[in-house]
Amino acid sequence: MTVFTRRTLLKTAAAAGVAGVGASTIGRLAGFAAVPDPVVLKTTSIQAQLMDGAPTKNVLTYGEAGPPPVVRMRKGEPFAARLVNGIDDPTTIHWHGIRVPNKMDGVPFLVQPYVYQGDHFDYAFTPPDAGTFWYHPHCNTLEQMGHGLTGVIVVEHPNDPQCDSEAVINLRDWRLGDDGQFIEPFRPRDAARAGTYGTVRTANWLDQPQYDAPAGGLVRLRAAITDVTRIYAFRVDGAEAAVIALDGNPVPQRFAPDALQLGPGQRLELAIRMPDDEGAIVSLRDVRGTKSKVLATLRAVGKSLKRDLRDLGPLEANPVAEVDLAGAKRIPLALSATAENVSANSICGSLGYSFWAINKVPWPGDTPDPTAPLAELKLGQSYIIDMENLTPHSHPIHLHGMSFKVLSSSTRQVQPLISDTYLIQPDEKVQMGLVADNPGDWLLHCHIIEHQKTGMTSYLRVV
Ligand code: C2O
Ligand code: CU
Repeated sequence: MTVFTRRTLLKTAAAAGVAGVGASTIGRLAGFAAVPDPVVLKTTSIQAQLMDGAPTKNVLTYGEAGPPPVVRMRKGEPFAARLVNGIDDPTTIHWHGIRVPNKMDGVPFLVQPYVYQGDHFDYAFTPPDAGTFWYHPHCNTLEQMGHGLTGVIVVEHPNDPQCDSEAVINLRDWRLGDDGQFIEPFRPRDAARAGTYGTVRTANWLDQPQYDAPAGGLVRLRAAITDVTRIYAFRVDGAEAAVIALDGNPVPQRFAPDALQLGPGQRLELAIRMPDDEGAIVSLRDVRGTKSKVLATLRAVGKSLKRDLRDLGPLEANPVAEVDLAGAKRIPLALSATAENVSANSICGSLGYSFWAINKVPWPGDTPDPTAPLAELKLGQSYIIDMENLTPHSHPIHLHGMSFKVLSSSTRQVQPLISDTYLIQPDEKVQMGLVADNPGDWLLHCHIIEHQKTGMTSYLRVV
């Protein structure tokens, strides 16, 4: 195996059936003067080898075979994609973490119609930020994401500092039985707790894949947690490593990933300095809980490039508006359990239970008549979300359409990270500042999909 370079990724994308279609319609829709050829992302049901033994049937992907392709974009340059639905279930695509116009956000009812089998939908937008993001459906998500529809997005920046290689790693589990076939996607009693874990763990759909990287060189490792449930605690063994970005934004201060906890939806970017000796192994591990698990390894090859981690220049900050703290209005947001059952019979999949609520309101599921927004925000105004976790579980809370800045926490020292997903711990209170600069209805939900689908969802309206 080789480390993914841009060229091999493009080849992989071509092999996976990602081809161009005519740009004209999409261009008209998006109002661009010049649009690129759209990337075609076609949902398909395939068989895949996810563990020893029989291949798994009814695995879902974008393309024809293997994992969904890594989609490459360039900051500030128009991007277009055509979702073609080849599966017998309505679907959409959400571009997680990318600040897109509301109509491109992929949430059924709130912003766009379902895409039925045989139909297509054209997405077009210009990514304003560089970094690591990901894409997934926003319909029947426990099933569609659980069966494979989660892919990584890399938004490149022309001024990105030069590394000697890059590795892109899609981290996720699968709920398979001993025969390699899908088992029930969740257990209600677990949905009411931390969520139902997968039984088979993979990186790029493989068990502990190994990639080659130049000895003594610098690797930019981009990992996305696209699993529906699992929270990770990252560590790197065998090399010096520094966290350079989280959730698509450079960190104000680099630090070693010493059991760094990240939840579903979050992305980790590391700079790793490979060992000098040919054949030396570096491992990316999950050390959450009692067992340490190797996720993927890098193998040093060739003569040492003798690089230094400190040589890597800074990443440019993304153009996220600065919060006016003095003039900010407050939005209280409390996460809790609920005893009320409101689950609607929704086409995008209801799990049939309500276990969770935001500000005491359990979300009923995707319906043409959703509950009122959590808050109505004035375009251009600054806000501070006061988020409080009244449950004994951690929740990766994700906001669509806008980035927030982490201001303070009641339980820990926090860096002023810019993000779209915050992993709130039990009994934690956190302040997050944002400028309401993107008009529309923006979903806000826990990214443990069972929590999302059993009530822990709401939305902000920016007008
Ligand atoms: Cu990753 Cu509502 O999304
Ligand atoms: Cu949750």
